[in-house]
Amino acid sequence: MDKPDQLGAFDPQDHATLPPACWQAEVERVLITEAQIAQRVRALSAELTRDFAGRELVVVAVLNGAIMFLADLIRHLSLPLRLDFIGTSSYGAGTEAGELVFTKELRLDVRGRDVLLVDDILDTGKTLRRVLEKLHELKPREIKTCVLLEKAARRVENVRADYIGFSIPDLFVVGYGLDFAERYRNLPFVGVLRPGMYENR
Ligand code: IMP
Ligand code: MG
Repeated sequence: MDKPDQLGAFDPQDHATLPPACWQAEVERVLITEAQIAQRVRALSAELTRDFAGRELVVVAVLNGAIMFLADLIRHLSLPLRLDFIGTSSYGAGTEAGELVFTKELRLDVRGRDVLLVDDILDTGKTLRRVLEKLHELKPREIKTCVLLEKAARRVENVRADYIGFSIPDLFVVGYGLDFAERYRNLPFVGVLRPGMYENR
């Protein structure tokens, strides 16, 4: 894999990172702009197209967070593929994941197939680990994983992604599919939620 884009340093005086006015009460700053996302997702699509040339993929996306990333990623995959979804939800509406439950099962048969598992973010790794365990039981030929974001500092499970859009610091982010209590998935950028938004709950 190409190295994921690294994001880190933040200058609070830098007005370029301010979100649009309508989001400023809730979102402290833009961490990854719409243009940066578009450019990076295009590069990932190109890399996947090269790496999987001659094969047919089953793309499995994890609901709900992966939807935006998935839509942009597969739009530029020049490969034959079939698409399916697996639903997960973790109890607890805060920023810490609770117990994971499956809310939707796969419909396609992935036995003997090449699977590309797509998720929004690899944080502690608990979600991806559980989903991978479940997929392995269905006996695919191979599973590769692709995430838009990863927070390496937070990993507790021994799981890694094969394709990563951006490595980000330990911040709670929303937008481009990522939520806080099911909100903010529609933001076209990835932003840092104001800590007050979740600390008061
Ligand atoms: P993990 O199981 O700890 O790796 O977390 C994966 C899931 O937690 C992701 O699919 C997200 O739904 C959620 N998550 C982790 N970090 C964030 C974040 O910064 N913002 C929004 N959701 C997050
Ligand atoms: Mg989520």
